[in-house]
Amino acid sequence: MSNSEFAEPYTIIEPFGGPFKGDVTVPGDKSISHRAVLFAAMAEGTSHLSGVLDSEDVRASIRAVEALGAEVDLKAQPDGSLSGTVTGWGAEGPSQPAAPIDCGNSGTTARLLMGIVAPWDIEVTITGDESLKKRPMRRIVAPLAKMGVDFKPETPETLPITVCGNRALRAIDYASPMASAQLKTAVLLAGVFADGTTTVNEPAPSRNHTELMLPEFNVPTTAGTRVATVTGPAEMLASDVVVPGDPSSAAFVAAAALLKPGSSVTIQNVSLNPARIGFVRTLERMGADIRESYGGHEGKEPRGTITVNYTPVLRGCEIPSQHIASVIDEIPVLALVAAHARGITVFHEVGELRVKESDRLKAIIDGLALLGVDAWEEGDDLFVEGNPQLQVPQGLVFESYGDHRLAMTWALVGACGRVPVSVTRFTCVAVSYPDFLADLKGLVK
Ligand code: S3P
Repeated sequence: MSNSEFAEPYTIIEPFGGPFKGDVTVPGDKSISHRAVLFAAMAEGTSHLSGVLDSEDVRASIRAVEALGAEVDLKAQPDGSLSGTVTGWGAEGPSQPAAPIDCGNSGTTARLLMGIVAPWDIEVTITGDESLKKRPMRRIVAPLAKMGVDFKPETPETLPITVCGNRALRAIDYASPMASAQLKTAVLLAGVFADGTTTVNEPAPSRNHTELMLPEFNVPTTAGTRVATVTGPAEMLASDVVVPGDPSSAAFVAAAALLKPGSSVTIQNVSLNPARIGFVRTLERMGADIRESYGGHEGKEPRGTITVNYTPVLRGCEIPSQHIASVIDEIPVLALVAAHARGITVFHEVGELRVKESDRLKAIIDGLALLGVDAWEEGDDLFVEGNPQLQVPQGLVFESYGDHRLAMTWALVGACGRVPVSVTRFTCVAVSYPDFLADLKGLVK
């Protein structure tokens, strides 16, 4: 229910009543879906994709590659996913788009696109919505400039940015200042067409979907825990990709089961990539009754089930900085779980949260304060002092700031609790999990 009398429209989330029980599948993994669409567009020939997430972010990638000349024929399936074909531009390269490419809210589309257009003789202006236009882009511009790419303006910090491609890119050995899969991927994708071996070294491991998927498109990669290489120039050839469920979406269902007494839920067909299920490890350390079970691979990506049972007593824990990349998108919902735990939970070195789809660090602290939970930052560390007796007051209005992961986090307060809450701009969940509330409702027994 929305109310337009207020400056920001909001949605009232009523308590869902009974416990959450049974099996659920979550939509396709967002990171893998972006890569499947983008890599297929770069490749020679026709790729077959299935299980692709149908969300606003992935649609931004689809629109982007269409504007660059790929042919996309992905159709909505009865289960809500997209499947079909993408015919890439291959050796011919992308065509000069007629207009700037609007990536909407999608940081992954914008940042990966910079690396994709870099090795070609075109000038592409990349822009996005108000949130994306505030996010830092220098991290991508800096290594690509070392490879020989020019930009307009010359040293841009934020979108809109025009990438002036260069067919004679230099391979680089790049010591990345941060653990970022978007940065790593942009450099590796440019490196596919550079002459020689491009290497990205990271201070901590970031998600490795690019290294796992590029060989499926005929581009060999080597990958250690913190180092990835690609040797160019390589020929990208079409492939088939089956996208497993998104662990970042599964984390919200898992948290719902942990917070609602009597719940027991199994999430089917979800990616179990170790770089993505840090939230399972974290919840285990909090004493949660949660476990994953391996069920095979899609390409090189492991998948399986995650089973979660309501756990009455949770305890705070510390998440060290080298594990933060493996939980980066789950910190809002983990902070909500931590708010119900006994003791203090510390997320170390999470300054990056300030430049996600919103300033998540501030939003988490403010949202938990509404619940009467003490949360604070010290330097770049986030502290949450849990309260197992937490009582949610009537009439709370949580700000989502148009950030999908915040909207879903605060919706859980209403859905799993005893009093309704309001969440502003809740429709932003369409960025990653359009059917979030419907899937949760389907589990109410
Ligand atoms: C992503 C990488 C992460 C993550 C984002 C998706 C990706 O960002 O937060 O939601 O698909 O590569 P960073 O690379 O900026 O850490």
